Amino acid sequence: MTLNYQPTAWTRADAIKVTADNPTTTQPIVPYKFKGMSNKNVFVWDTMPIRDLKNEIISINGWSIIFTLTATRRFNEIKDKNGNYDIVTDWNSRHGRAFFAYWYSKDSKNWTYGGRVMAEGVSPTKAEWAGTPILTKDDGSIDLYYTCVDSKSATIAKVAGKIVTSDTGVTLQGFTQVKKLFDADGKYYQTKAQNGGVNFRDPSPFIDPKDGKLYMFFEGNVAGKRGSHVVGEADIGLVPPGTAAVPAKANLRVGCIGLAVATDMTGNKWEMLPPLVTAIGVNDQTERPHYIYQDGKYYLFTISHKSTYAEGVTGPDGVYGFVSESLTGPYRPLNGSGLVLGNPSAQPLQTYSHLVMKNGLVTSFIDTIPAANGTDYRIGGVEAPTVRIQLKNDQTFLTKTFDYGYIPPTRNIKV
Ligand code: FRU
Repeated sequence: MTLNYQPTAWTRADAIKVTADNPTTTQPIVPYKFKGMSNKNVFVWDTMPIRDLKNEIISINGWSIIFTLTATRRFNEIKDKNGNYDIVTDWNSRHGRAFFAYWYSKDSKNWTYGGRVMAEGVSPTKAEWAGTPILTKDDGSIDLYYTCVDSKSATIAKVAGKIVTSDTGVTLQGFTQVKKLFDADGKYYQTKAQNGGVNFRDPSPFIDPKDGKLYMFFEGNVAGKRGSHVVGEADIGLVPPGTAAVPAKANLRVGCIGLAVATDMTGNKWEMLPPLVTAIGVNDQTERPHYIYQDGKYYLFTISHKSTYAEGVTGPDGVYGFVSESLTGPYRPLNGSGLVLGNPSAQPLQTYSHLVMKNGLVTSFIDTIPAANGTDYRIGGVEAPTVRIQLKNDQTFLTKTFDYGYIPPTRNIKV
């Protein structure tokens, strides 16, 4: 299928408009004494509520269910020089041993740990990275789209299973056969051979409400050998007079929001399409892309870091977004800059991996909260307080804070 569109460049000029600490686009301070979760033996970060291809957050027989990227805490193995548990090292090394776990809840905020989704050894790589659990039928059938990652490869894959509920809890069946879907192609999306540190992951499938076809967003980098990209006028945008030339290394930052289309509704075969949004010379990571369809517009969201911005531009860790009347763009950066909800500069790493749900609620996880003394800090690895944003044309507004990990359904199914 050929779709005739050009990627939208998120420009350096847009990024110059990014302003930290504007109260309408800043996540409220998360207290140092934040609430933990029921299972203290694991860290959780990326949170993926069960949803369907129409973007509804699903509960089954009244049970809310989330999948999380999870790592078992190694209290006895990871010690500092005094023999105490070294939570910082344990937390920072979590990505290589990330696995999917599931949690369930009746009130959509007090989560009971269910255990692993795939047994150890089912996934072809040790690290299981983010994606989306999709309800494919109203009988609890799930296709988990996710990313198989190791030092040599990053592959978008899926695994099918089923959610079974009872009066007392939730169990899983299946999740035993992983089907690899695709790797980066080197034509639109950078490969491992082109860049050893490539970002290619985080599938998020959906049915386009306008054309009824099955698509998938994912995180990519723009194809081409690392160092070969040119930060052109279209990537720089309309900058003020006297703006310094683009620093030499800025061309190493080539994030993009990828799009693929399924050849049929089973979602077993996919064709990669050009990126929707590129960030050449702006930022290297546009992670976990997802969207809301509202008022005939596609609000496309992605998470990004301060540390992955290109030289000469900056912004907070948080969620960024773009809006268009057409799935394939052109997109306009929300709020003029792209920033939708950033961490406050007083707590720059307080939360990450935001997911904006259909009802405007935004879930994320707690990363690192500084202590009042300015040197100590507390590691999270738990759900952050949920907040609400409201979308109005090309602007977004933070309007409400809820409880930790509050992820209510937008559709309940009875099985
Ligand atoms: C976001 C993220 C995802 C990735 C996972 C790895 O927090 O970087 O892009 O799938 O975490 O742990």
